[in-house]
Amino acid sequence: MSKSISGFSKLSKAQKINWVVETYFTNKDIAKNVLKQYWNSDEKLQQLHDEFIENTITNYYLPFGIAPNFLINGKLYTIPMAIEESSVIAAASKASKFWLDRGGFKATVISTTKVGQVHFIYQGDFETLKAYFNFIKPRLINAVKPITKNMEQRGGGIIDIELKDKTNDLKEYYQLHAIFETLDAMGANFINSCLEQFAETFKHEALKFEQFTNVEKDIKIIMSILSNYVPDCLVKAEVSCKVEDLNEDKGISPEEFAAKFIQAVNIAEVEPYRAVTHNKGIMNGVDAVVLATGNDFRAIEAGAHAYASQNGKYSSLTHAKIDNDIFTFWMEIPLALGTVGGLTNLHPLVKLALEMLGSPNAKELMQIVAVAGLAQNFAALRSLITTGIQQGHMKMHLLNILNQFEANDNEKTTLIEHFKTNAATHNAVVEALEKLRLTNNN
Ligand code: MEV
Repeated sequence: MSKSISGFSKLSKAQKINWVVETYFTNKDIAKNVLKQYWNSDEKLQQLHDEFIENTITNYYLPFGIAPNFLINGKLYTIPMAIEESSVIAAASKASKFWLDRGGFKATVISTTKVGQVHFIYQGDFETLKAYFNFIKPRLINAVKPITKNMEQRGGGIIDIELKDKTNDLKEYYQLHAIFETLDAMGANFINSCLEQFAETFKHEALKFEQFTNVEKDIKIIMSILSNYVPDCLVKAEVSCKVEDLNEDKGISPEEFAAKFIQAVNIAEVEPYRAVTHNKGIMNGVDAVVLATGNDFRAIEAGAHAYASQNGKYSSLTHAKIDNDIFTFWMEIPLALGTVGGLTNLHPLVKLALEMLGSPNAKELMQIVAVAGLAQNFAALRSLITTGIQQGHMKMHLLNILNQFEANDNEKTTLIEHFKTNAATHNAVVEALEKLRLTNNN
């Protein structure tokens, strides 16, 4: 039985490790060694990682790979991706090469605003609340000047604050719904700081508003927080070419390929079970770049899936059509990303990733990330409607299986060669490895 502990965060790193090892592990030396194996020998770098979060006991590595040949709006990029899934970078690289030969990707930022809300309870007349809101709005904006000054100098800040009556959804529930432009910052801290100040001023000044009754003066702030739903921070990525240029080497004609591809997208548009997996494939590309560039992939995931349900039913984020023999495949996706602040100028690998991308601003990064998502979806659908997904997946997964069975370099080389022409199922790989070892031992 594990035991609870109080004051854990105040223990030293060594004490925390001792506690966890003593509490949970039979072989304490092995557990300690595994944790220590991942420490960085550069103490300053390790301390930086220790201080990102509370109670750090080690680092968790993810592979950091690159996908070259992404032509986006005429500019060539090598895209950094942090991801554990074996086939993702290979798929991205295949898609980038495919479209490099067909004019590349086009990407456009449609909008860049973000939302934050003060949620509150008010018991009284809505007209009086409206009068109070109109009276207080300039003061709300004024009260956050110390927070917004720098952002305003750069051209961002508060775009608007609206009062929303939500009482049809929940008794006595209203909102201050604020719209922000945070430029190259993701803006979470900026937005939340503004919202908390709005809330304080809004509540405090209500006490002095003469048109309010005593009950009306007692505005109850429930919470102040940004929204990760950002349908107005939207980017579009697309590819197009003549249908005849979709020359496939996978045994089907370009026309059949285009028709099947569009049907596959149409299925994801109407069928939520498929749409979730379809969009998961898009997020394979999106999240990997978001993570490599130090952005918050949970926020991006939440916002993207909400957007995929914007019409009341979960649907595909990508779309495809043929018009006048031109095949077009595109996606609109909300992406609240930052290229300054947060981890971006703190984490050495994030800094490197951004430099590799040519130090993009937030708009350019939105375009790159959207393209990575579209490319990933293209690669997945291309496999699904031709060879099936497992052929490529198992080829990429082969090394994981071989590593699991501690294959040496010679065994890996032989079996990688063998599975170029044989189906690489888990059992087949294990059997082939056993057979090879038997032959080598005889
Ligand atoms: C696997 O990570 C992603 C796919 O399932 C996406 C899809 O089905 O479109 C291959």
